[in-house]
Amino acid sequence: MNGGEKDFSKYFDFTGAKVLREEDGKTTYRINGRDITVNAAPNYKDEKRRGKEAIQVHYESATPPELLQLGKGKLYHITTYGCQMNEHDTEVMKGMFEQMGYLPTDDRTQADVILLNTCAVRENAEDKVFGELGHLKHLKLEKPGLILGVCGCMSQEESVVSRIMQKHSFVDLIFGTHNIHRLPYLLQDALFSKEMVVEVWSKEGDIIENLPKKREGMRGWVNIMYGCDKFCTYCIVPYTRGKERSRRPEDVIAEVRELARQGFKEITLLGQNVNAYGKDFDDIEYRFGDLMADMAKIDLPRIRFTTSHPRDFDDHLIEVLATRGNLVEHIHLPVQSGSTEVLKRMSRKYTREMFLELAAKIKRAIPGVSMTTDVIVGFPGETDEQFEDTLSLMREVGFASAYTFIYSPRVGTPAADMEDNIPEAVKKARLARLNAVIAELSRQSNEDAIGQVVEVLIEGQSKNNAQVLSGRTRTNKLVHIEGPAAWIGQFIEARVTEAQTWYVKAEPITEYTQHEAVS
Ligand code: SAH
Ligand code: SF4
Ligand code: F3S
Repeated sequence: MNGGEKDFSKYFDFTGAKVLREEDGKTTYRINGRDITVNAAPNYKDEKRRGKEAIQVHYESATPPELLQLGKGKLYHITTYGCQMNEHDTEVMKGMFEQMGYLPTDDRTQADVILLNTCAVRENAEDKVFGELGHLKHLKLEKPGLILGVCGCMSQEESVVSRIMQKHSFVDLIFGTHNIHRLPYLLQDALFSKEMVVEVWSKEGDIIENLPKKREGMRGWVNIMYGCDKFCTYCIVPYTRGKERSRRPEDVIAEVRELARQGFKEITLLGQNVNAYGKDFDDIEYRFGDLMADMAKIDLPRIRFTTSHPRDFDDHLIEVLATRGNLVEHIHLPVQSGSTEVLKRMSRKYTREMFLELAAKIKRAIPGVSMTTDVIVGFPGETDEQFEDTLSLMREVGFASAYTFIYSPRVGTPAADMEDNIPEAVKKARLARLNAVIAELSRQSNEDAIGQVVEVLIEGQSKNNAQVLSGRTRTNKLVHIEGPAAWIGQFIEARVTEAQTWYVKAEPITEYTQHEAVS
């Protein structure tokens, strides 16, 4: 094994790397002069596997007593990319850092530990991280004691880990999405060994309860499930996040009740595919509709959820959502394409007609509901006509807004092997046309709101003008409203007076709402 050193840039393969030690199942290599201890490396084959491992729920605490002082007098910083799932993982890691005595800093030059919590969903997300590593290299040279770590979805990719090991050897720590609870131990290893530490499990994934979470503000995220089993042909997430697995209802309910007790105003339930909640329980018959019915009983003003997959959106759920109460009238329902042909190649498992029927059913049951979506343009083989089908579907459903993306091939996914035959200029032109339609629909939905009285949860001062506050309606419409900073965190009743493309202006009509008295 102690041969010469090899180029690992295409795939993850240690054959040929110089082995320094092998102990306790860990192997220490010397690669380009850097000692690297690998506890576990990502493995694409294992990440695709489903059904071989039993999912376990762990309730023990992640931070052992001997590590509770590890960060005393030290500062940490986490930069987060990607979706709410990652944002929430960052809250968990912040919780763990602070349990170990670390304090947060926004100033990276002051930090003793910097983590990049990464996203792998599109190539530009990855490029940003590699660019950032370039900047951080200088910081590391100035401050050799700094611990620099990469975690999140990119760490689950063989090619990324191999590239960091060879070309960014100043990185001290790489860990995966299944290893977050191991942070205290991994940090300790990186601090004391002075070697790069790599631990990425390619498991179907367990559920780890009782991790600390550092939430800020009045809105909180709560995971209800992890992973994804849908394997849409373009998507990396099932490989980076493991199998679909649901938290036990009693754990979710207890967490939301506790947040209600702490005074949180709005909760977003998180999962890649929340409508599949509970499908994996083999001892109880309890699905997402049942969970939402239980959420409706909790005294917390607003409950949101993201993301829905059209496939598991059942009638019981629609019925429960139609009871409103604290279940708000906003549904984010990614469609991806308006062409049945493209949807088939994406393996979304529904047709244009099925989607339209579902959207109509939701609108009938919940009048005034606001629907938003995600769309990919330029999927391999997408014709002009198929793209037009997407545009017409946008109008037909009347989405209030949408996240739009140019298709980005992801190594290891089935679509990456399809011929990517659409010129870049065509993809860009399609994106621009789609965005124009969405801007028009968004403005229309904002104009329709003029004169309406809405409940606004004030989130903060607007970015450009401190006199103006910004908040959200139950339907997730962005609202600008003049008022004192004391309103932040409060519900204000307001009348919509003016429509812009992406937000509305409103005037307060009372300073009292059912949830909160504002003096
Ligand atoms: N679980 C969610 C979405 C997770 S990823 C769902 O199924 O709806 C968020 C969005 O990123 C997706 O909805 C999709 O529109 C987009 N996306 C995912 N993979 C992509 C890729 N390879 N290229 C471009 N966009 C992608
Ligand atoms: Fe990706 Fe599809 Fe799963 Fe969403 S449902 S995370 S798009 S594989
Ligand atoms: Fe990105 Fe991972 Fe979320 S790939 S979108 S951070 S699940």
